[in-house]
Amino acid sequence: MIGDKKILYSGMQATGNLTLGNYLGALKNWITLSDEYECFYGVMDLHSLTVRQNPAEFRKRARMLYTLYVAAGLDPEKNCVYFQSHVSSHAELGWLLNCFTYMGELSRMTQFKDKSAKHADNINAGLFTYPVLMAADILLYQADVVPVGADQMQHLEITRDIATRFNNIYGDVFTIPEAYIGKSGARIMSLQEPTKKMSKSDENVNASIYLLDDPDTIIRKFKRAVTDSDNEIRYSEDKPGIRNLIDIYGATTGKSKEEIEKEFDGKGYGEFKLAVGESVVDILKPLQERMKELEADKSYIDSVIKANDEKAQYFSMKTLRKVQKKLGLTERIR
Ligand code: TRP
Repeated sequence: MIGDKKILYSGMQATGNLTLGNYLGALKNWITLSDEYECFYGVMDLHSLTVRQNPAEFRKRARMLYTLYVAAGLDPEKNCVYFQSHVSSHAELGWLLNCFTYMGELSRMTQFKDKSAKHADNINAGLFTYPVLMAADILLYQADVVPVGADQMQHLEITRDIATRFNNIYGDVFTIPEAYIGKSGARIMSLQEPTKKMSKSDENVNASIYLLDDPDTIIRKFKRAVTDSDNEIRYSEDKPGIRNLIDIYGATTGKSKEEIEKEFDGKGYGEFKLAVGESVVDILKPLQERMKELEADKSYIDSVIKANDEKAQYFSMKTLRKVQKKLGLTERIR
């Protein structure tokens, strides 16, 4: 707890361009959570290094992700929005927790198996211990809740296991975090293969809507979205393309599936796709305008980065010092 609020922690990796899926599935909810929780949101740039990055591009992308968080409506004065790499306690606690994590449990992580298959030429130790750094992220802030997608659930489980193991030896050091189960975000699928999640690392640019896509591009991508051919706008398991478009339209307009089916009863896919595209253009417009303003005002973003780095440093350091002491590391002389 900080004050009378529970603590919430989440973050995204600083790789790829954020998509409509990241926005409707996560970011949009994060914004509303800050009333109820004391929130920490990281730009997880240390995790991104498990895959080789081009330094100049990486630096730009990480800053862009930070700015997008703010442009999307995360208030950096109410939420602690910061860069993981600016707060050295993450790497330090990550090391300490490595000594409380077993090879066996890390080898069972499905993301490790998937990523090592995908990057067979670079199966580095960081990829293997990725979940331990993620555990450090969460545990440093004594987070009560962590909103994560299904793909990160296993990492949250191992975080709980590591924390419980540590607490059993050293007493109550870490809060055991729970998955956040509130109103979950929409699960947005690829526009080209609607049985696959929309992903920022998809090689096919037509599969994803990026948050900074211009209106023409957005409309064009929706027009090309893969659907079936029965021309009926109905929410159904066997119509993944149309179902995805209904989910998107529902998330952007707040309308229910039934309302949407009724609105487009007897109308064709062309008309529906255009309406979905326009609704997406509408919700992204304020974000894109804000992004332009923020990019032009470097000193504002610099100042919130600085203030939030300090805040993250302060809270994480409290936990790190406690852990060091419990472990019997010698005290610092002042
Ligand atoms: N692994 C997460 C992802 O790829 C990002 C992440 C890193 C994270 N540390 C975290 C998410 C801590 C939640 C909490 O999506």
